[in-house]
Amino acid sequence: MKHNFTEHNDLNLVLNSVVNEISLFSQNQLNKIKELNQIGMALSAERNLDKLLDMILFQARKFTGADAGTLYLKDSTFKKLNFQVIQNDSIDTLNLNKIHWTPLNLYKGNGSENREMVAVLSFLTGEVIHIDDVYDVDGFNFEGTKKFDKVTGYKSKSMFVVPMKNSFNDTIGVVQLLNKKDKNSKIIPFNQEDKDLTLSLASQAAISITRVKQEELLIQQSKIAAVCEMIDAIAHQWKQPLNAISMYISNIPLQYELGELNKDFIDRNTLRMNGQIEHLVNTLDEFKKFFRPNKRKQEFDIKEIIKTVMLLVKDEFVSNDISFIINTNSVKASGFANEYKHIILNIINNSKDAFNEKNIKNREIMIELKSNKDKAILEISDNAGGINEDILSNIFDANFTTKSDNSGTGIGLYMSKTIIHNMNGEIFVKNIYDSSNDCKVRKGVKFIIEVPKGNK
Ligand SMILES: Nc1ncnc2c1ncn2[C@@H]1O[C@H](COP(=O)(O)OP(=O)(O)OP(=O)(O)O)[C@@H](O)[C@H]1O
Ligand SMILES: [Mg+2]
Repeated sequence: MKHNFTEHNDLNLVLNSVVNEISLFSQNQLNKIKELNQIGMALSAERNLDKLLDMILFQARKFTGADAGTLYLKDSTFKKLNFQVIQNDSIDTLNLNKIHWTPLNLYKGNGSENREMVAVLSFLTGEVIHIDDVYDVDGFNFEGTKKFDKVTGYKSKSMFVVPMKNSFNDTIGVVQLLNKKDKNSKIIPFNQEDKDLTLSLASQAAISITRVKQEELLIQQSKIAAVCEMIDAIAHQWKQPLNAISMYISNIPLQYELGELNKDFIDRNTLRMNGQIEHLVNTLDEFKKFFRPNKRKQEFDIKEIIKTVMLLVKDEFVSNDISFIINTNSVKASGFANEYKHIILNIINNSKDAFNEKNIKNREIMIELKSNKDKAILEISDNAGGINEDILSNIFDANFTTKSDNSGTGIGLYMSKTIIHNMNGEIFVKNIYDSSNDCKVRKGVKFIIEVPKGNK
């Protein structure tokens, strides 16, 4: 649209052309800001670090018209800048990948800063660096660039290096752009506009990179935590069979002293030890599978599980003067059979500890299996004196133990609760009281384990 600013036509012509230029420029700027915004959104949505870095360099080149570019990130030791992405429109990606890209050292052998490398200088100082022609500049070391040109036949000229700063003002890497091209593909120097837009893009990029790296770190940490939990669980469940094996071994010299070390004893002892070793191996397998998701639930008979547990612990419990009263019918449950076995083991081992700690006489553990319409209910009770009411609600917490130094870690019941919850079941505890004493004396505890009943 033309305006008549003055009565002079010539002046109007000039003024109109100025207005046109300005509106074109501001429209252009507005478009770039809009584009920058969209890029920012795309960057913040990307979860994959490699794709993110690729996208950042591509957009920085698109904005500035750079023919090529490199993106460096500092390594975790803060000693080097690593090449992460190389892009070059004039050279085949295949050929680019053939080149061995060695990291840039931030410091020289004598400990001083390696300021001759532009990328390092920009990283260390946080400054943007323009170079109109890398073959016609003093004070920098462009050996690497020149070698690259020689190998590929490329001709590097204008260069532009921008630090990537995140929201904590930490410089995390550098974007290095090469050979800005004009409309006619002529190589020209980078300009002030390139600086403003690229700086803004670089800082958005740095924020996204920091976010993705933090997310990766969290995933990594949670994986490590899961592995630790698995190792803890296995180590915990190995205590009982290892105790049993050690007991069987110590029986050998004892039998020898008594002159009863005969074939029958050796056969029985070997069989029992093998049983425990098999249990050790199975436990390893069971927990490896348990800690992997998408494990399928199965139907199993709780009565059979109780029998297996009894086989494993009988001798050890007899030697601790503990007797079992078992009252079971066959009840089918749906869940994880092998892990269910470990819950029973954890509960009765706690009873054994309590009997020994409090030096209880007439030690008894009662196991009762019941069911209602949709639940299989297992009740395990002891007469080991029970648990103080003020800590009763804490015993299923991770690392809660009342046992001294090395004898307890507080994992047993926490693990049992986790297993039960994975089976969509529940575990409860209550103190039981001596009815012959008007229920005034605490006799022991009762654990109640409920899981969904099997179909058949
Ligand atoms: N039958 C029981 N009688 C008395 N106290 C018990 C009984 N069962 C559990 N407790 C209490 O609950 C606490 C937590 O038990 P849990 O099995 O989780 O850990 P822990 O036995 O102390 O250690 P860990 O099982 O890791 O070796 C025990 O320290 C103990 O104070
Ligand atoms: Mg325990």
